[in-house]
Amino acid sequence: MKFLVIGGAGYIGSHMVKQLLRAGHELVVADNFSTGYRSALPGGKLVELDIADAQALDDVFAAEHFDAVFHFASFIQVGESVTEPAKYYRNNLAATLTLLQAMVRAKVKHLVFSSTAAVYGDPVYVPIDEEHPKAAINPYGRSKWMVEQILEDFDRAYGLKSVCLRYFNAAGADPEGQLGERHEPETHLLPLILQAASGRRESITVFGRDYDTPDGTCIRDYVHVVDLVAAHALAVDYLLAGGASTAFNLGNGQGFSVQEVIDTVRRVTGQDFCVSDAPRRAGDPPRLVADPRKANAILGWQTQFASLEDIVTHAWKWEQKHPWH
Ligand code: UFG
Repeated sequence: MKFLVIGGAGYIGSHMVKQLLRAGHELVVADNFSTGYRSALPGGKLVELDIADAQALDDVFAAEHFDAVFHFASFIQVGESVTEPAKYYRNNLAATLTLLQAMVRAKVKHLVFSSTAAVYGDPVYVPIDEEHPKAAINPYGRSKWMVEQILEDFDRAYGLKSVCLRYFNAAGADPEGQLGERHEPETHLLPLILQAASGRRESITVFGRDYDTPDGTCIRDYVHVVDLVAAHALAVDYLLAGGASTAFNLGNGQGFSVQEVIDTVRRVTGQDFCVSDAPRRAGDPPRLVADPRKANAILGWQTQFASLEDIVTHAWKWEQKHPWH
């Protein structure tokens, strides 16, 4: 099969590229390198473009026929989306609409779209299934939910079939140590803790110990990046086999608290580091845990690295291999 992977130089996109190439697919990788890294590209033919550029997209679609598109290119910082909503609506929403229109013009009928658990907002129940009310509490989550709704309309009007994959907390790294997480600035819990463990950061701050959870810290459903991309591969198979447009939660169905992640890092790395406490971070729900049974049942998705130890071990290997300064 021939696929276009947009945002293939980013954290999750680069792991996807590696897995698709290994499966023998032909790839064109598109990235504007606003947050991705050339060094993260495991292969495939590279096209440097911004999906806001309709002409550049038309050129790519005119040059090759794709069986499907994977769309990973978006801004992901919840806090930034609150202070700079225009940036999020321009890229995550408007530029994605430009991409969808280009796909319609080129008659490319299948899309695997990176969505997020942030579409649900503050959970009214956990574990969260796909029917849970959508009440995003920040522009990041809203931009993704708006795209999901546009995709429903594009299916009805133009027959564009899509799978929206709602990620819970993507974490971990390529077990072979070739790829990993690298955001500038880094805001995610696990890479920040690992930076503290490796000495690249003085300490890690826990945002809130007064939540209504067993140890008072927030609970999240961490899902290994290799398992995430495996779900995308299953999703594209599902679409190419004639599957209807739909959405799936991607998580393990198991939650770990911030304190448990810190304890696991100490255990796995054998390193100690300073932990300081700070008040709650705005907009953090106490507990986000997926009900992944729909993806298990329909896609046949089973996670390979469900243990937090595996996630931490692989991310630690990456952190040690790449001691950036
Ligand atoms: N946390 C800390 N200290 C830190 C960083 C994070 O205590 O220095 C805590 C947060 O308060 C939260 C947990 O660790 O309770 C996880 O935080 P992350 O920033 O790693 O991840 P989020 O759960 O906030 O966000 C993730 C994705 C978003 C997505 C969201 C909802 O990164 O893109 O899940 O699905 F929107």
